[in-house]
Amino acid sequence: MTEEEYQQLVRPYSDASEILMSRLNVMKHQLYDSSAGKPIHTLQARIKSKDSIERKLAVKKNVEETAENARDYLLDIAGIRVICYFEDDIYNLVDSLKRQSDIIILKERNYIKEPKVNGYRSFHLILGIPVYYTDAMEYFPVEVQFRTLSMDFWASMEHHVLYKKENDNRENIAAELKIYADELSEMEKRFAHFANKIPVS
Ligand code: GTP
Ligand code: MG
Repeated sequence: MTEEEYQQLVRPYSDASEILMSRLNVMKHQLYDSSAGKPIHTLQARIKSKDSIERKLAVKKNVEETAENARDYLLDIAGIRVICYFEDDIYNLVDSLKRQSDIIILKERNYIKEPKVNGYRSFHLILGIPVYYTDAMEYFPVEVQFRTLSMDFWASMEHHVLYKKENDNRENIAAELKIYADELSEMEKRFAHFANKIPVS
């Protein structure tokens, strides 16, 4: 893939990402004060780099590193991270997005209900966002990862020290990280309790 082919490939994905970002920003500004308060702490968006697109096609998908294969095989060229305070903020936002009738849901993974064995927690949605050009409309996928602050803290740290990296002593670190994931989840439940989100337990 040449640099020019890469730029041409990612343009509509970044259009789709901007469309979704502006909708999420509207939700972040929350017109009416709900008892839940502000649901979104931060929004982040990224477009997959040329290098990681090529690496993923070659290593994970075992196909040629072409723009066409990127379109056919990858659903995470555009990625958005929505960072919330509490789990119920995530479910409310997911429900709100599902009610936006022009958006389609391509894939849903609830790693909050069923965390990965390593302790990773997050709610993943791959949405099809309609992008209107003057003479055509096409859906482009955007991967949205919903996390609480504590899920994001853990995932960012784990990514930094382990995910997709070689490391001696991996197993010991992984076992320790799993313990921290559980502790963070417990801690977050306590904060939710203090915020009157859940009943006394
Ligand atoms: P990828 O090919 O890596 O995108 O994974 P997938 O297609 O099997 O989907 P999955 O939902 O498992 O992961 C998608 C994305 O979630 C990854 O690219 C990461 O950004 C994030 N993710 C998934 N698992 C982990 C994990 O164990 N640790 C961290 N830090 N991030 C993860
Ligand atoms: Mg990915």
